[in-house]
Amino acid sequence: MNSLSATSVHYDLNKFTYILDKITSAEFCQEPFKHIEIFDFLSEEHFNSIITSSQVAIPKANDSKSLIDTLFDKDYEIIRFPGCANSVNHYLNWLEDKSVYKNPTKPCEGMGMALRLKNPQDKILLELKNFFASDIFKKALEDKFDITRPTAMDTGLQKYLYGYEISPHPDIRKKALTYMLNVNPSDNSEDLDIHTHYLTFKPHKQFIGEFWHHNENIDTCWVPWEWCNTVKKQCRNNSIVIFAPSWDTLHAIKANYDHLQTQRTQFYGNLWYKDISRMPKVYYYQFDIKPVIRPGSKPQVRTPKSMVKSWVKKLLPHRGHNKSDRQAVQIFPQDYD
Ligand SMILES: [Fe+2]
Repeated sequence: MNSLSATSVHYDLNKFTYILDKITSAEFCQEPFKHIEIFDFLSEEHFNSIITSSQVAIPKANDSKSLIDTLFDKDYEIIRFPGCANSVNHYLNWLEDKSVYKNPTKPCEGMGMALRLKNPQDKILLELKNFFASDIFKKALEDKFDITRPTAMDTGLQKYLYGYEISPHPDIRKKALTYMLNVNPSDNSEDLDIHTHYLTFKPHKQFIGEFWHHNENIDTCWVPWEWCNTVKKQCRNNSIVIFAPSWDTLHAIKANYDHLQTQRTQFYGNLWYKDISRMPKVYYYQFDIKPVIRPGSKPQVRTPKSMVKSWVKKLLPHRGHNKSDRQAVQIFPQDYD
């Protein structure tokens, strides 16, 4: 196997032009929301080179600490990622006692760890990393999804350990595009509980999607799993799903598996809009509206439209009439999904 540094490798990106053709010619799927899904995305040769690479097919580990040490030796680094701990101690403590570290803004219990390959050694990994970061790949994505505003690409090969969980969410407004390519090294990866769900709201929670749809100056949030139905899961190895985040692009993940045997592994990437910053956000518990019935009065019947109008008045910071209204909209620094 060739060991190449970023400065010595000769990049032959032409060998990946078939990827551009596949993206350009892919049909859009509309269920549960607009996206493209391409099976057998990489050529068999490229895919097999990746999943057998020494930095992807990691030997079985005896415990989580030694697994993480091995990943560090293989040149992975911990990244700040939604649903994940930011340090080894943080993560190992959570594995010991899952009652620690509860984020009140997140409607889920899990906590994983995401590690990104910092320095690919195998030629195919380095070449693909550079291809996914290239302008030609970015332009193919922007053209496919009609993205015309300025964006920046963030991409990498990532492994996600046990516990990684992001409850259903559509991605924040700053994201222009998300892609996930499964490159799992295990033969039985498609049977493991490690895959991304694509969802819709249950009927009684569809008003939240409508709220996001008609209030583009308010950011989206994570919502409880039980408010949604999974429509499909991205189980196939060497499949990619690509979508432009919008009010209805609900997706989620809960990785419940033995990461000592194998790890959920993906090429993951986002385009980020450069022309907007973080927005105020309404959190899931603020959508958890219960009917109020006063003694002696009839239950008040309100249409979703009138409810949304009322919430906008209450929740928008510049329209809040009192301190509690203004506090209803907050920006938590850890929110970036
Ligand atoms: Fe997401």
